[in-house]
Amino acid sequence: MSTQKTVSRRAALGAVASSVVALGCGGSQESSSTTPVGSGGGPAGGTSGGGSGGTSSTGGSAGTGTGGGLAQCKAFGPTPGCAVTDDNILGPFYKADAPFRSDITEGSTGTALRIQGTVYGCDCQTPLAGAVVDIWQADDSGAYDNTGFVLRGRVKTDDQGRYELTTILPGLYLNGSTYRPRHVHYKVSHADGVALTTQLYFEGDPWIASDAFVKASLVRPLVASIGATGKKEYDVTFDVVLTGV
Ligand SMILES: [Fe+2]
Repeated sequence: MSTQKTVSRRAALGAVASSVVALGCGGSQESSSTTPVGSGGGPAGGTSGGGSGGTSSTGGSAGTGTGGGLAQCKAFGPTPGCAVTDDNILGPFYKADAPFRSDITEGSTGTALRIQGTVYGCDCQTPLAGAVVDIWQADDSGAYDNTGFVLRGRVKTDDQGRYELTTILPGLYLNGSTYRPRHVHYKVSHADGVALTTQLYFEGDPWIASDAFVKASLVRPLVASIGATGKKEYDVTFDVVLTGV
């Protein structure tokens, strides 16, 4: 595993970079030294019942925010029809102890991206307050900061289980001969739950089809808007459903 920044080959993509939906990030042997550490995942590709992130936004109105959903998981397993979020590879670039902050850009330039979501217990309804969402990603050129914490950070969910992050759209990097889809790495943990390692991907990414790791349940739509500066920016929602200990 290299500790050096990945050299971007984005320029070689030519026309691919013309659209934001031409997402993908390849490279740098993400597969070779990765450890599939995630543990909260349910059936691969599971999409039912608000599990697997994204579809569970209807739940969470009456939760205690204290892990009650996870206590249920521990006793009874996931609620029928509720799929816990699928796991995904850790990749070689995780760094522990990222700072707690909601804006992880730290001066990085690129296309603005806001990520929001809710962390639920495995009933897909109980929001989990105090869950730690730890994310890291490549910069606009496809490089990870392996010396500092640029584009790395942790946030805790609020009383409604919600989290928000300000970042940029991850760049492309090669994995062997093909680009990995653009992605944001996640580690989500809660005192009453099993930590989950996963990744967020984006609909319309042309590199999804050839990627060996992406799971359909982890792909979310990007919602475009024009920011105050007149530039295009994006929003994405990624809910997470954890399972209990
Ligand atoms: Fe990655």
